[in-house]
Amino acid sequence: MCKKHIFQMSDLTKEEIMSILKDAKLFAFEHKDWQFSDTKLVANLFFEPSTRTHYSFASAQHQLGCKVENFHAETSSTKKGESLYDTVKTFACLGYDALVIRHPEDAYFEQLKNIEIPILNAGDGKGNHPSQCLLDLYTIYEEFQTLTGLKVAIIGDVYHSRVAHSFSQAMEMFDSEVIYSGPKECMDSMEKYYEIDEAIATADVVMLLRVQHERHQQPMLQSKQDYLNAYGLTKERYQKLKPHAIIMHPAPVNRGVEIDSDLVEANKSRIFQQMRNGVLVRKAMLKKVLR
Ligand code: CP
Repeated sequence: MCKKHIFQMSDLTKEEIMSILKDAKLFAFEHKDWQFSDTKLVANLFFEPSTRTHYSFASAQHQLGCKVENFHAETSSTKKGESLYDTVKTFACLGYDALVIRHPEDAYFEQLKNIEIPILNAGDGKGNHPSQCLLDLYTIYEEFQTLTGLKVAIIGDVYHSRVAHSFSQAMEMFDSEVIYSGPKECMDSMEKYYEIDEAIATADVVMLLRVQHERHQQPMLQSKQDYLNAYGLTKERYQKLKPHAIIMHPAPVNRGVEIDSDLVEANKSRIFQQMRNGVLVRKAMLKKVLR
């Protein structure tokens, strides 16, 4: 396997994670204008919709001086039945230096391990989302100056969330405690399940998740207001957060469902800061695999 791929958090050691976060911080301050000394050609292959991940990778690539191509599945030869493997192998043959891929299939990357150029996984089904995880870690480190010894509550549709799966794996790697809340049918397991009010009152970091209706076999029939009352961050629950606690959300946000719309930009919310940090972290990831 190409050692440079980043498919999942377990592809990185703790030291490599910290090195990416350190580089991201340099990109925020001392090395704002750093670019590759030679031109890198990168392509973004998104087989699922995306705003943040796609365009923050693109922003990072442009800032690093890369030449960027965006693949359009609907006008590509995948429409003629070409496989994912053959599509990706083709990009490797065409002179691209690295690929960013999002695909709806869990662990799609298992078939791509021997591709010669580095691949950054931008999300696989409900499996992994390492670049989101790294920006989440950066946001937490920026706040607490540590990733260890924290209590993190992940609240919402955990089962369908690649964000939750990567994030919980990483926080446990750093010896932080991860607890869960939300609809019981949306949990991977009931171990570490807390009732919503207790989860919110005891956590240092509250990570809210969107209900991923597009991945549900059966539609959730609850109204938005009922979901917010049962599992969401309401104004009343916001008052119960610890003084130093922060709210995170990978977005897109369903305002008025997992969070009261007025709280999206509340003092404790880091939701838009996460997006800013995403560009820094993705620059650091590209630097790591392309140098
Ligand atoms: N957080 C996230 O992955 O957002 P997008 O789907 O818009 O990329």
